[in-house]
Amino acid sequence: MGKRQRRRISWAVVCGVMLFTVGLISLFTGHVASNLEWYSQKLVKHRLWYSKVGGFRHHGPINIWKSEFSNLYYGCSERGPHYTPPVAELLSNGYLLIATSGGLNQQRIGITDAVVVARILNATLVVPEFDHHSFWKDDSDFSNIFDVDWFISFLAKDVVVVKRVPDKYMRSLEKPPYTMRVPRKSEPHYYLHEVLPVLLRRHVVQLTKFDYRLAIDLNKELQRLRCRVNYHAFRFTKPLQDVGDHLVMKMRKMTNRYIAVHLRFEPDMLAFSGCYYGGGDKERYELGEVRKRWSTLGDVNPDGERKQGKCPLTPHEVGLMLSALGFKNDTYIYVASGEIYGAIDYIVCDESDVFVTNNNGNMAKILAGRRRYMGHKRTIRPNAKKLSALFLQREKMSWGSFSSKVKSAQRGFMGDPDEMKPGRGDFHEYPSTCICKTFNYHHHHHHDNNTKQDMLKLNHERESEFEGVISSNTTTTHRDDDADASLEEKEDDDFLAGD
Ligand SMILES: *[C@@H]1O[C@H](CO)[C@@H](O)[C@H](O)[C@H]1NC(C)=O
Ligand SMILES: *[C@@H]1O[C@H](CO)[C@@H](O)[C@H](O)[C@H]1NC(C)=O
Ligand SMILES: *[C@@H]1O[C@H](CO)[C@@H](O)[C@H](O)[C@H]1NC(C)=O
Ligand SMILES: *[C@@H]1O[C@H](CO)[C@@H](O)[C@H](O)[C@H]1NC(C)=O
Repeated sequence: MGKRQRRRISWAVVCGVMLFTVGLISLFTGHVASNLEWYSQKLVKHRLWYSKVGGFRHHGPINIWKSEFSNLYYGCSERGPHYTPPVAELLSNGYLLIATSGGLNQQRIGITDAVVVARILNATLVVPEFDHHSFWKDDSDFSNIFDVDWFISFLAKDVVVVKRVPDKYMRSLEKPPYTMRVPRKSEPHYYLHEVLPVLLRRHVVQLTKFDYRLAIDLNKELQRLRCRVNYHAFRFTKPLQDVGDHLVMKMRKMTNRYIAVHLRFEPDMLAFSGCYYGGGDKERYELGEVRKRWSTLGDVNPDGERKQGKCPLTPHEVGLMLSALGFKNDTYIYVASGEIYGAIDYIVCDESDVFVTNNNGNMAKILAGRRRYMGHKRTIRPNAKKLSALFLQREKMSWGSFSSKVKSAQRGFMGDPDEMKPGRGDFHEYPSTCICKTFNYHHHHHHDNNTKQDMLKLNHERESEFEGVISSNTTTTHRDDDADASLEEKEDDDFLAGD
């Protein structure tokens, strides 16, 4: 399915189709997703912390639908009392442009950092243009995806954002603006020492390939600015939000709570992992071919990778995990995976009661962080290392024993407030500076009284694998043979950009 063709599908048609086939959206979008950096799951080991002390002990079975103690935490990103207003456009140190890079969510992270850099430099930020050359092969621009006027007005007390560089500067400017590329994760002082002098001299500077160019640890005011940008200033345009809301409404009509799974079980991901998924020589050959795109990836031992938790779970395994955790066969699952309509998947995942990530990509990270900020809505991330051992021994143990082992393997991977130590991990994933705690311990326990029996509605072919697990012991092995694996070349470091 070509990109052009996809863009011709009108929203009305999309909505109509969604009426019956919630999963179908993944069909449109499923085969090319661009936040490939997800496989920094390889680096997940030092990321996740589960502290039994300091936080709250879990007593008895956890509530799989709602994070315990979530009521005690809330998102906070107010400006401090000594926060100064932004420098006016005419007095600013110049115009800052950025060229974003990567998929929609990677660009979102880049733009968030650009606002912070503009603040550090007392620069005027020009609404960024999206990267049309990278994975995100869509010709939409910022204003097609995000509400520009809202973005500008929401940030008015932080940074002056303008839609374009005034003609006065444009005319005196050599055609492309002066460009600079800063090293990954540069500290504010780098910008002050290296970029500011150039900006003052040239008036207009464009920072290229602007992804992960700003340090993860910043002072509190700058971190909170990141949260204001990411969680408040970005608002999807009305047509996108409407489609997303419509889908969510459809889900809510069928069931009062649902799971969204960001499956991302697609050839590029699988090839990048170097793992084996049971498809025989055909799979080995095909994934081997895809893998050749990344010249820096050598041969790995698939079994070894699996033992170390470096392989994404198969749809079957995700189903097993959910079932073992206690989700019943009447649970509705929304399968998200794409990037082209990624904004809509984002909305439906964001609204879900439980979000399950099967990867560590940008969308998963941003949503996980956002869900913490918005009240610790449950986000489940498979503890692949422990689960892989359990899946191998699945046949050797009773369901009850498997289930309790899965539950204990998943402790600390359920999106609970106390599972990460503040300051650890990726800020987008765990925006600790923007999470505040109340001291009201009289929180309400939410007992789920939902006895409504909803049929597991599985329309997407991929979802049949969940069905296989959740409603019977028959499992299917579906392979996405028709998937278009034609991704552009991507530098290897982009995969690991998150780290
Ligand atoms: C930015 O402006 C503030 C005052 O609003 C000033 O204190 C600070 O030094 C300025 N920084 C730069 C890099 O111009
Ligand atoms: C849940 O069910 C119990 C009894 O089964 C009832 O007393 C309680 O009010 C119900 N709670 C809600 C929120 O419906
Ligand atoms: C769902 O599970 C219940 C038991 O919890 C079982 O009686 C029922 O047959 C299952 N439904 C399907 C469609 O498998
Ligand atoms: C498989 O079937 C057995 C009984 O036949 C049942 O105890 C077990 O729960 C089933 N497992 C799954 C994953 O449905």
